[in-house]
Order: sequence, then structure tokens, then C-alpha cells
Amino acid sequence: MTANLTARPAGSIALAPLLKPVTFAGMSLSSRFAMAPMTRFRSPGGVPAPEVAAYYRRRAEHGVGLIVTEGVWVDHPSAGHEDTVPRMTAGAAEASWRRVVDDVHAVGGRIAAQLWHLGSLREPIDGLAAWTPSGVRESGRPASHAMTAADIDELLDAYAQAARVAARAGFDAIEIHAAHGYLLDEFLWPFTNRRTDAFGGSPARRAAFPAAVVRAVRAEFPASRPVIVRFSQFKERRFDARIAETPAELDQILTALVEAGASALHASQRRFWEPAFPDSELNLAGWAKQLTGLPTITVGSVGLTRDFLRPGGPESISGLVQRATAGEFDLVALGRILLGNPDWVTNAAAGRLDDIVEYRKSHEDTYY
Ligand SMILES: Cc1cc2nc3c(=O)[nH]c(=O)nc-3n(C[C@H](O)[C@H](O)[C@H](O)COP(=O)(O)O)c2cc1C
Repeated sequence: MTANLTARPAGSIALAPLLKPVTFAGMSLSSRFAMAPMTRFRSPGGVPAPEVAAYYRRRAEHGVGLIVTEGVWVDHPSAGHEDTVPRMTAGAAEASWRRVVDDVHAVGGRIAAQLWHLGSLREPIDGLAAWTPSGVRESGRPASHAMTAADIDELLDAYAQAARVAARAGFDAIEIHAAHGYLLDEFLWPFTNRRTDAFGGSPARRAAFPAAVVRAVRAEFPASRPVIVRFSQFKERRFDARIAETPAELDQILTALVEAGASALHASQRRFWEPAFPDSELNLAGWAKQLTGLPTITVGSVGLTRDFLRPGGPESISGLVQRATAGEFDLVALGRILLGNPDWVTNAAAGRLDDIVEYRKSHEDTYY
């Protein structure tokens, strides 16, 4: 069963407010910690290998309330090219996902499937150019295909199909990946979205395709289960890029997503303590919550250093807990630190700092 997070020895670290059960967008979660989505390349032929179920289960049984899966490609040739990245397709992949979901549920966890399309980051193999809003890619990369209105409809069908499969597999939620410079984010970003039709222009119009995806997913996924949207300012290859220069621009984008049926927002930033805009300490999740009233997830370098768990400044556990208890955001996602430490939450809660291993990029493949 789930770890007992309240039985902590004296002297343990003040994580208590994050360890209590919480209801998030209608889901009952055992804690306010989530696992951030992380690609693991362990799904040959797009089908999650049996070890994938055990991998997610381990985090859920050690105090992570909500698992967000690695990015899962929607079933369309333009979505991605890597053979070992999972897909959300009927058949063997669906059966494997059902096993993953059942394993996480067996230990009291909840799990969201992250739906992903690579956009311009898809390699142009199999004779298919990458699909993008306007054919614009970072310089030096091969030309891409500017999506037509028919292409847009085709992809909306692919997202809808993925939502149907995810619902049948038993996922508690869907997270739509609209961050980090992939297809949906390329619509949000004016540099890559030069369209002059209804899908380009003002921030609200740039959000029209991501919003249509939310609508398509929402229509196929049971109304009682949330649809989360993950967004970011930064791109994986352009840390200084921004989809919104001001809170008012962000408001336009998020309003379009909310009106389309988003239930919660996952605001991705690289460091959770950094303000999203000048003249306010609010981080991106804080702004998203303030602008929309929806529950939000924060993320970014939580727990990455050993010092994080010693009470200290804004970038330490004290700063994180202070923001959480002030209601700036609802959940805290853990990324890299959870790779090598499936039991990070329980160790941190018990003050077992010596049992926590430092994250090393060079060790990523060895983490299970
Ligand atoms: C190995 C790895 C794979 C990732 N894959 C994804 C992904 O599939 N989808 C996504 O939205 N973010 C992905 N990310 C970003 C993480 O979800 C997270 O936002 C980032 O690691 C920052 O959190 P952290 O500082 O706690 O690691 C990935 C990060 C890493 C390290």
C-alpha cells in the first residue's frame, strides 16, 4: 500500500504541508507531489515494456500522489520518429498501458498520460517532413511542412483517438504537452507561428489550435477525469523564448485553454523560485492560478541539491513550502531527482538525507 508519510521521526524536515492527501481537479491524491513527465526510451515498437509498470509503481508507492507519464505520441506519423518512445494506440500499447495504470492504482497512486507531438523536432525520416505551424524551424535544420487546415483536422482526430485509448486504459487524467518548443508550443510562440488564418496572430489566436486539441480530448475523455495542459515560456533549445511578454498576453492564451475545457495547468519552468514577470514574486504556476482560478502544478529544480532540504532561502524547501501554503500552486512536480531516487519523498519526509543520491545526467540510463 501507499507509504505512511505521517510517521516521521523527530527532527525530520518540514515537508508536512506537502505530504497531506489532497483533492486536485477532482482526483484524490495521497500527497501534493507529482512525478514530472520524463522520456525514458523503454517502449520498443511504441509499446511500454513490462519494466515501465514497475518503474512508475515504485514512485507511486513512495509518496508521489500523481504520476505524469513520459510523453506518449499520438498515433500519427508526424508525431515522432523514435521506436522506443511509447505511443497511445489501440492494441498492444493499450494493453501495456492498462498494466501500468493497474500497477500504479494497486499502490494507491493516480496516473495521467502525457500526450505529445514533436512538431519541428521530429527528424525528417521516412520521407515525411516535420509538421509545424508555418514551416519555420530553428536555423540550420531541414525545412518543415506548414500545416494545412486539413492537417489540423487530421491531428485533432489523432488526439481524440489517443484520449479514447487513454480512457479505456483507465488513466485518471490526460496531460496535453503544450510546452518546451514542441508542436502545440510552436503554435503559441510568435517566432514559429506566422499564420494569418484563425490559428495565428494575437496570443488568443495562437492558442486556437492547442485549445482545439483540448476540446477534442475533452470530448472523448470522461467528464469526471481532468484534462491538464502543460505549457512553458522556455523552449528546450531556446531558454530565453517567451509565449507571453506580459500577464495580459498569458491571460489570453490561458483563457482560450480554459474555455476549451482544461481542468488544471502545469506551468513548466526551469527553477520554481523564479518570478514569471517583473514586479511580482509569483512564479509561472502562481500566475496561471491567479489568472484562471484553475488548480496548478509547479516544477523546476525541486530537490536537485542536497542543500535543498535544509531550511533556507527561496530556492530551498522553506521557499517551496511557503509558496505552497500561501496557495500559489497546488502540486509540486519532481523531475530529475526522482529518476535516481524513487523513494525521494519518503526519504525527504523522514530526514534521511544520506539515503538520497545526487542526480547525474551521465547515469540517466541506469535509473529504474
Ligand atoms: C530525461 C528527461 C526527459 C524529459 N521528458 C519530458 C517529457 O517527455 N515531457 C515533458 O513535458 N517534459 C519532459 N522533461 C522535463 C521534465 O518534465 C521537467 O520539467 C524538468 O526535468 C524540470 O524538472 P526537474 O528540475 O525537477 O528535473 C524531461 C526531463 C528529463 C530530465
